[in-house]
Amino acid sequence: MRALGIDIGGSGIKGAIVDTEQGEFASERLRIETPQPAKPEPMAEVVGQIVERFAWRGPVGCTFPAVVQHGVARTAANVDDEWIGTDARALMEKHTGNPVLVLNDADAAGIAEMTYGAGRNNNGLVVILTLGTGVGSSIFVNGVLLPNTEFGHLDIRGKSAEWRTSDRARQLNGYSWKKWGKHLTEHLRYIEFLITPDLFIIGGGVSKKFETFARYIKCDTAIVPAQLRNRAGIIGAALAAAESTGAASS
Ligand code: BGC
Repeated sequence: MRALGIDIGGSGIKGAIVDTEQGEFASERLRIETPQPAKPEPMAEVVGQIVERFAWRGPVGCTFPAVVQHGVARTAANVDDEWIGTDARALMEKHTGNPVLVLNDADAAGIAEMTYGAGRNNNGLVVILTLGTGVGSSIFVNGVLLPNTEFGHLDIRGKSAEWRTSDRARQLNGYSWKKWGKHLTEHLRYIEFLITPDLFIIGGGVSKKFETFARYIKCDTAIVPAQLRNRAGIIGAALAAAESTGAASS
């Protein structure tokens, strides 16, 4: 079965057709710059262009880099505030002419990692953190997602955690791997205190440097890098969309 996955980020909007039974791309990956300012209408237009370029008819899964409750954007940490309260699903359906499922980007990446990546067959309490422009989180218990956890915004010493532990914060502040690892340790330890996970999966672009910074992370929980890298959002969104329309099982 196939579904189109689209991953909306603060700098790029990426899409590919996904074979949902294999968890692999079934087309090339297309990337278009995110319009700035990142407002709803121009961004939805880009999503429409991607659907058009693939001449796609069928389920579309679309990630969004903020809280999405039943298709409605509730926050907008790294996109324009105009998104707050926008029915993202209705907007995307209008621009694509297809059924669209919109979900948080870290939740989508988590779905992909739990199905085809580092969390496969893990029935414990798994926390996936995506470290990129912001920090996203997804939590699974027995493989079931608890949506819209925002553990990237835990308050740590008076600041949203992502201000120190996102990859953007690392680059902007010129943190050494050691210093950034210290911040990440503090963040992970706080999550351990709150929910005692069985496994941490570290995703986002920086996960390919896992070997470089892993030695600076000192927490009690097992910790592994994500496996699907920058494909996780697209694959997870497509999986969720296929499932919600019943297409994955047909
Ligand atoms: C947002 C999350 C999102 C994460 C990664 C955070 O700032 O609040 O919803 O998952 O960035 O994009």
